[in-house]
Amino acid sequence: MKNFKPLLPKNHHGCPYLLLAPMEGVGDRAFRRAMAAIGGFDEACTEFLRVPAKAHVPSLAKQYHADETAPIPQAAQIMGSDPDLMAEMARQLAARGAPRIDLNCGCPSNTVTGRGAGSSLLKDPEHLHKVAKAIVDAVEVPVTAKLRSGFDDTSLFKENLLAAQSSGIQFLTLHPRTKAEGYGPPARWDLIAEAKELLSIPLVGNGDILTVQHAVDMLRQTQCDALMIGRGSVINPFIFLEIKSHFSDLPFQKSWESFIHFINTFVQDFPPEVTINRQISKLKQLMGFLFKGNDRLIEHRQSILTSNFSDIPSFLEFSLSIYQKQQRWTG
Ligand SMILES: Cc1cc2nc3c(=O)[nH]c(=O)nc-3n(C[C@H](O)[C@H](O)[C@H](O)COP(=O)(O)O)c2cc1C
Repeated sequence: MKNFKPLLPKNHHGCPYLLLAPMEGVGDRAFRRAMAAIGGFDEACTEFLRVPAKAHVPSLAKQYHADETAPIPQAAQIMGSDPDLMAEMARQLAARGAPRIDLNCGCPSNTVTGRGAGSSLLKDPEHLHKVAKAIVDAVEVPVTAKLRSGFDDTSLFKENLLAAQSSGIQFLTLHPRTKAEGYGPPARWDLIAEAKELLSIPLVGNGDILTVQHAVDMLRQTQCDALMIGRGSVINPFIFLEIKSHFSDLPFQKSWESFIHFINTFVQDFPPEVTINRQISKLKQLMGFLFKGNDRLIEHRQSILTSNFSDIPSFLEFSLSIYQKQQRWTG
């Protein structure tokens, strides 16, 4: 077992370590940078970096930039099923400064699962172990894994957890839904509690944390060591700060200025070659989440999504004036 400094430290107020979830298509570089502008979480992670068969690994690894969320560290998540290629990808990413390599064992997409990667690894605990161990043996940075609770069902749940653990990973994140469940039924926090009982390595709980109360409830019900939040952070980018404030007993109220800073950082990060239509559809995707933030916002969500603007300032003026009115702000 390699020796690393404790990886999921609580802060001095006892707040658990908070991780921004990898989210392909939504939690892209622009979003992660915008989230880092608001802050409150302890670590970010890229969306999965796919390592297909016959991949030219050095070119693939160039997608990763360690400093995107600086000063917040950003892990690299990789997805694939060939142990040698995955080990080589991990080496390249570590050389590019990745502070941690995470193995994706959860992506439900068929184009991915068809090739034995992502959640397909959950059908074969032995192979999961082999891929994870190849990565662990390849690098001198911590390796972790993020699992769903199973592929079609949870019959291999424990086998998969133990296979991952015995590969030498440093911690495991559990999103307790099977691949077959997609995002339909509520996340089964009871499985996080079960995993916590079973494992000796630290466990990150994930799934359906949308409020501070959910975070507190997940910790209490599962005894997990740290929390990972995905969609809850797109709906409410202040959620991590709110959780930190809850643990420190310091009041926190979201400010309009920092929200605008969030939006500006997001927009500034669009690559220049992206068309205006594409930029507006990225913004609509973000607004689609933000306008789920409360009942008053939900009423306006459809009109934002179906609006027809041909430039970004007009779209932002329209959507943000509604957003500003329907939230409680200070500053
Ligand atoms: C749009 C989207 C993209 C996702 N992409 C990834 C991914 O690249 N890697 C991964 O491990 N999980 C991915 N997930 C799963 C999330 O990391 C997380 O496990 C899941 O959304 C449950 O957490 P939440 O309820 O806090 O969102 C994705 C989820 C969504 C909604």
